[in-house]
Amino acid sequence: MHLGWFATTGFGVYGWNQPWSGNQPQDLGRPGLFVDMATTLERAGFDYVMLEDSSVLPDVFRGTFESSVARGVQVRFDPLPLVPLMAAATRHIGIIATVATTFYPPFLAARLFQTLDHVTGGRVGINLVTASADGAAQNYGLDKHVQHDLRYEMADEWVEVCRKLWASWEPDALVLDPRSGVFADHTKIHTVDHVGTHYRSRGPLNLPAGPQGGPVLCQAGASPAGRAFGAKHADTIIAAQTGVAAMRDYKLDIAKRLVDNGRGADDAKVMFLVNPILGDTDDEALARRDRLREAQRSNVDGVLAALSYFTSTDFSQFDVDAPLPDLSGNNGHQGTVADMFRNGKTLREIATNHRTTESVELCGSPDTVAERMGEIMEEVGGDGFLIAAPVTRKNLTEIGDGLAPALRRRGLLRDRYPHGTFRENLLSA
Ligand SMILES: Cc1cc2nc3c(=O)[nH]c(=O)nc-3n(C[C@H](O)[C@H](O)[C@H](O)COP(=O)(O)O)c2cc1C
Repeated sequence: MHLGWFATTGFGVYGWNQPWSGNQPQDLGRPGLFVDMATTLERAGFDYVMLEDSSVLPDVFRGTFESSVARGVQVRFDPLPLVPLMAAATRHIGIIATVATTFYPPFLAARLFQTLDHVTGGRVGINLVTASADGAAQNYGLDKHVQHDLRYEMADEWVEVCRKLWASWEPDALVLDPRSGVFADHTKIHTVDHVGTHYRSRGPLNLPAGPQGGPVLCQAGASPAGRAFGAKHADTIIAAQTGVAAMRDYKLDIAKRLVDNGRGADDAKVMFLVNPILGDTDDEALARRDRLREAQRSNVDGVLAALSYFTSTDFSQFDVDAPLPDLSGNNGHQGTVADMFRNGKTLREIATNHRTTESVELCGSPDTVAERMGEIMEEVGGDGFLIAAPVTRKNLTEIGDGLAPALRRRGLLRDRYPHGTFRENLLSA
C-alpha cells in the first residue's frame, strides 16, 4: 500500500501546549519539526508529505478571530519555503505543497514548481485546491468567493496553462555541449500563446523542463465537479469517505472516471484519511482513544468554528440541538458538508461524532493496526492511506518507527524506493 501524511494545518501550529509538544512555542515558524517529519517518514517508506494551506485567518464563527487564534488552530505560515528544506534533508520522499488555483497566477505557479522540481531532484507536488472561504477571496481583492463549480472550471484551465508552460522546453532542449559552447537549442523552446476564458499567458518558461516534466498533482474535491477535475488531472486523490463500503465505492468511481478520461484505472492513487491511535498494547490504545473522544465531546465550539470556516457560514447562529437546515449547496466544501448532514442529525451530534480526518477508525498496537490496514485495503481495492495525525515528534515516531515497520513485516509497505522521482515511485504498484 502507499502511505502519505497530511499536515492538517500545513506549516502551522501543532499542539504547542500539549504534553508532547517539546519546544514548539520557541520553535514557532522554524523548520526543524518539518525537516524531522520528512526524514522520519522517508525512513518509514512513505510516498509523500502533503502540506495543507489556506491564506485566511477566519473570523466567521461569532464574527471574531478568537476561535482562530486563542488556541493557535488557524495560524499558518506559507508552506512553500519548507519544500526545499525538507528535500535537502532527504533523498526519496515526495513533498506536496498546497496552492489555491483561484488566486495564484498560473505563470507564477508554473515557474515556481518547475524550479522546485529541479531543486528537489524531481520530488515536488502541488495539492490543487480552489479554496473555500470568502475571507481568502477578499485577501486577493474579490468581494466574495467565486462560485463553487466555476472555481473548478477555472482550475481546469489553470492546469492546462501550467502544463503548456511545463512543456514549453522540450525534454532535450538542453544541449550543454562544452565543445560547441551551446547551452540550449532555441528551436526546442516554444511560446505557449494561451488565450482562454480565464487566463492568458505567452510563455515559454525561462528555465528547462524539470526531472518530472511537471510536478505530481494532488487533489481532494469530493463533489461531482471535484471528482471530475481530480480524475482528469491528479496523480493522487486524497479522500475523506467514511466506512469501508463508501471507500470502495469512491475508489471504483474514481477508477471509472480515470478510464473515461482515457487514463489507466490506477493512474491516480487514491489515499484515504486515517488517524491511527496507537499504544504498546490494544488496551492501552483503547484507553487513549476514550480520552481523545472525551476531549472531542467537550470541544463542540472548536468543531463548529472549523465548520464555519469550511462553509463561510456562522454556525453559532444555529440551535445545536435542533436538526439543521440543508446547507449542501454552500459555496465551500460541498462534498464534506453533504456527507456530514446526511440523516438529519443535530449540530451537537455532528460535532461530537464527526471525524473529519478518519475514513475508518484504527486503534490498537502497531501489529493490530497494521493487520487491519491490510484487511481494509483488500476490501477497498487500493491504494493507500493518508495519515492525518497532528504533526508532533511523538506521533511521527509512533507511526514512522512503530506502525510502518509492522506494515513492512507483513509485506504491506515498500522497503526501498525503486525509482528516482516522486511520480515514478507513487505510480509504481
Ligand atoms: C484531505 C483533504 C485535504 C485538503 N486540503 C486542503 C487545503 O490544503 N487547502 C484548502 O483550501 N482546501 C483543502 N481541502 C479541501 C478540498 O480542496 C475541497 O475544497 C474540499 O474537499 C471540498 O471539495 P468539494 O466541494 O469538491 O467536495 C482538503 C480536503 C481534504 C479532504
